[in-house]
Amino acid sequence: MNRRDFLEFMGYSGVALSFGGSLLSCTTKPPLPPGYTFNKLPFSPIAPTSADDLILADGFRAQVLIRWDDPIGEGLKFGFNNDYIAFFPLKKDNFHEALLWVNHEYVDPIFVSGYKKGDKRTKEQVRKEMKSLGGSVVHIRKNGDLWSVVHNSKYNRRLDAFTKIPFIAKEPILGSREAIGTFAGCAGGVTPWGNVLSCEENYQDFFGDNVYVNGEKKFEQGWVGWNEFYNHPPEHYGWVVEVNPKTGDAKKLTALGRYSHESATVTVAADGRCVVYSGDDKADECIYKFIASKPGSLEEGELFVANIEKGQWISLDWNKNELLKKTFTSSMETLIRTRDAAHLLGASRLDRPEDIEIHPFTKAVYATLTNNKKKGNFMGSILKIEEKDANPLSMTFTASTFLTGGKSSGFACPDNLVFDKRGHLWMTTDMSDEAMGKPPYVPFGNNSLFFIPTSGKYAGEAYRVASAPVGAEFTGLCFSPDYETLFMSVQHPGEGTTDLEKPVSNWPNGGKSMPRPSVIAIDGTAMEDIMAGT
Ligand code: FEO
Ligand code: CA
Ligand code: CA
Repeated sequence: MNRRDFLEFMGYSGVALSFGGSLLSCTTKPPLPPGYTFNKLPFSPIAPTSADDLILADGFRAQVLIRWDDPIGEGLKFGFNNDYIAFFPLKKDNFHEALLWVNHEYVDPIFVSGYKKGDKRTKEQVRKEMKSLGGSVVHIRKNGDLWSVVHNSKYNRRLDAFTKIPFIAKEPILGSREAIGTFAGCAGGVTPWGNVLSCEENYQDFFGDNVYVNGEKKFEQGWVGWNEFYNHPPEHYGWVVEVNPKTGDAKKLTALGRYSHESATVTVAADGRCVVYSGDDKADECIYKFIASKPGSLEEGELFVANIEKGQWISLDWNKNELLKKTFTSSMETLIRTRDAAHLLGASRLDRPEDIEIHPFTKAVYATLTNNKKKGNFMGSILKIEEKDANPLSMTFTASTFLTGGKSSGFACPDNLVFDKRGHLWMTTDMSDEAMGKPPYVPFGNNSLFFIPTSGKYAGEAYRVASAPVGAEFTGLCFSPDYETLFMSVQHPGEGTTDLEKPVSNWPNGGKSMPRPSVIAIDGTAMEDIMAGT
């Protein structure tokens, strides 16, 4: 699909073809001009709460669109712990019918397979867990003002931990040109040609990882431990996976490096090549940028890592660097061991880089740094990277802190981000379930959705829009291209449950029901006011 086809696919007129830069993220409609300010905040923010419910500020409304285990077609069920969401309109100029791509990140075995720590685990339990992760394509339609799933649509499909996916790589990886499965899909991105990028984040939990300690290769076991039954090489995971949502065709893009990819945020440079920003969500890990070698493809290109203090992008190209050549046997080995290469070349070690979004007007790159508890950073912050000349191909940038978590800002542990068409930021938090409600997080209640104006008299203030059920976090923020609806994942409600008779959350079905991760659709008069600018 060329650029024009993609814009047609996404519902644009010819006018939009002149719009360069970051028309991507999860929605791709050109933004309105900047300079819009509120005279009055269009809603009253809610107070922190620990209630086991989805609580919204007045003027917002939420609908549960689909839940874990809901059937979507013959033998197909919506997966567990949904995260990244991308919206692909099926027809030009119709934003009321679309394919949603949804990532399914990780398992809570007690719900998915019934396995409890200490039990003897069966292969059938592991099979159930492997079927519950990966991604879903779900055909959705808006009738009146309600969204619903088109059941049995020919487009509905699942990718899971059994799906064979080829590597786009110069040589086989551990003797194979394909991986069995994708899982750990956290956040992601959208390409200009209408494919989704799904990021394999905490891959090491499932088949472990081979790490290097003083030059010695050492296997580290992961907590989920699927390797007890399936002997898949850890090196087959930790990549960015590109998927065509219409066909399900998938490939693992090795040129973007291998690490705990949180997101893959795409922008288009003036020469038409894509630039992809990605964080490595682990304490003391790095932020990366990939520059494709030609327009219309992410299969080849150059990977860089940030030195934040110096404001420089450092190339990780094995062919260009003697130290990399001395340390790694090949370009492929450098990509497989991206972290080791980044550390070797002096990259900045950050406090868990998570989601990344690009401001639609200023082109500044915003990255959340969730926390780094062993360094005493419990609250996290949002980092702003301004590329020289606002050019994503620049090799230098300035970095500053946009916002810091804490009592005065009212949030802790920023994670997922999205900009709206006015250039205002929407952010969700990720305090872990075992930490939530305990010091130092008592004042923050449950994980929440915040609205942060970036211009006008309320600029830089975080206003709480929604509070998540017990144990949950909101993820996968995604506006429909008409900005009428904000789709969002409610991930891991009830996490921390140790007894199925007493789940710690009953959301969304209430009563004594089991909690179910779900996708919700948020709209309402407050949303309309924000987008309209009244
Ligand atoms: Fe999947 Fe770093 O959150
Ligand atoms: Ca996250
Ligand atoms: Ca995002």
